[in-house]
Amino acid sequence: MIFSSENMTNAIKIQAKKAEEVKVYLMSTNNLSHTAKVHAKEEYIYFPVIRTKDILKKYTIVQISLPKKKEKQKDLKTKISSQLTKKEQEHLKTSFDHIGTIAILEIDSQLEKKEKIIANVLLEMFPSIKTVLKKAGSHEGEFRTQKMALLAGVETKETCHRENGVMLFLDVEKVYFSPRLSTERQRIVKLVKKGESILVMFSGCAPYPCILSKHTFAKEIYGVELNPVGHQYGLRNVVVNKLKNVFLFNGDVRTVVPQLRKKFDRILMPLPKSSEEFLDVALAVAKKGTIIHCYDFLHEEKFQDAVKKIEKACATAKKKCKILGIFKCGQHSPRTFRICVDFEIL
Ligand SMILES: C[S@@+](CC[C@H](N)C(=O)[O-])C[C@H]1O[C@@H](n2cnc3c(N)ncnc32)[C@H](O)[C@@H]1O
Repeated sequence: MIFSSENMTNAIKIQAKKAEEVKVYLMSTNNLSHTAKVHAKEEYIYFPVIRTKDILKKYTIVQISLPKKKEKQKDLKTKISSQLTKKEQEHLKTSFDHIGTIAILEIDSQLEKKEKIIANVLLEMFPSIKTVLKKAGSHEGEFRTQKMALLAGVETKETCHRENGVMLFLDVEKVYFSPRLSTERQRIVKLVKKGESILVMFSGCAPYPCILSKHTFAKEIYGVELNPVGHQYGLRNVVVNKLKNVFLFNGDVRTVVPQLRKKFDRILMPLPKSSEEFLDVALAVAKKGTIIHCYDFLHEEKFQDAVKKIEKACATAKKKCKILGIFKCGQHSPRTFRICVDFEIL
C-alpha cells in the first residue's frame, strides 16, 4: 500500500492484543477519527484519533501516514445540474452547511420551483443527512438567529452536531451556530495554557466552552449567553460531554460579567457585528497579561478600524494593550471577512 507523505494522522499505536480494549474506549467516547482507516503493521494496530486531552492523558499519540477512507462521490453540482436548465444552473449554489443530521441550503429565488428536487438529491447522496432546510431570512435580532424552512426529509430543526469529539445539541433555527468556525475554535485551543481562567462572552449553545474544556488544560471556562434557548442547549452540552470545568450563565454580559467578580486570563468576544460595544465589559475583568479575542466583520481595506476601536476602548479604560495579530476566520461577502483581533493587556 502506498501512503502519501501529506497524509499524516494522529494515531494511537497499540499492541494488537490490547486493540479491542482501545477500540471500545474510542467508540464509546467518540474519539475515533473517521478520516483514515484503522491499520495493522507488524504486531501493532494504529487507531486514527481525535487528539483530546483525555486521549493524551491515557495514550501516546504518534503521527503516522494512514490510508485515507475512500472519499464518497460528492459531486453534487453534476447530479443536480442534470435536473436543471442551463439558465437555472447559473443560479445554483452547491455549498451548504451540514449541522449534525441537517443540511442548510441557500436557494436563489430563480430556483424555488426546483428546490425540492435539489433537496432530494442531497438526501440521496449523503446518508448522514436526514433533513434538508433552506435559509428563509438572514441572521437577525440580538440572538442572531435565522428563519429556516423544511425542504425534504424528517421534519425537525433540532440535531446533534459533532465537532472534534464534542457533541453539540441545538435547534438550528432558535440558536446561532456555525460549523464553519471549527477551525477558529481549534486556533484558540492551541493558544490556551494550562490553568487558565477563560471567559466566553456570547457563548450560544456553548461550542467554544465545550471545545476548550475538552481539548485544553484550562482551569475553568465561564460562558454568558442572552438567548435562553441557547443557554439551555449549552447546559445540556456540558452534561452530555461530561465537562466539569464549564460554568454557564443566562443573561446580558453587561449585567452578568461584573457579577462574576473574577478576572480572567483569556476573554473571547464572538459577536462580530457589535463586540466593540462590550469592550468596556471585557476590559473591566481583564488584568495584566489577559489575552482578548475580539471578532469583527470588516472589508479587507478596513481591518485597521478594528484595531483603532480596541485602542480607543483601552485608552478610555486606562489600560495599555499590545495587538498580537489580526486573523481572518471566514468570509462574510466579497472582500469582507470575519476577523479576530488578538490583543494582550500590558
Ligand atoms: C454570533 S453568536 C455566537 C454564538 C456562539 N459563541 C457560537 O460561536 O456559536 C452571538 C451570540 O451572542 C448572544 N448575545 C447577543 N447579545 C448578547 C449580550 N448582550 N449578552 C450575552 N449574549 C449576547 C446571541 O444570543 C448569540 O447567541
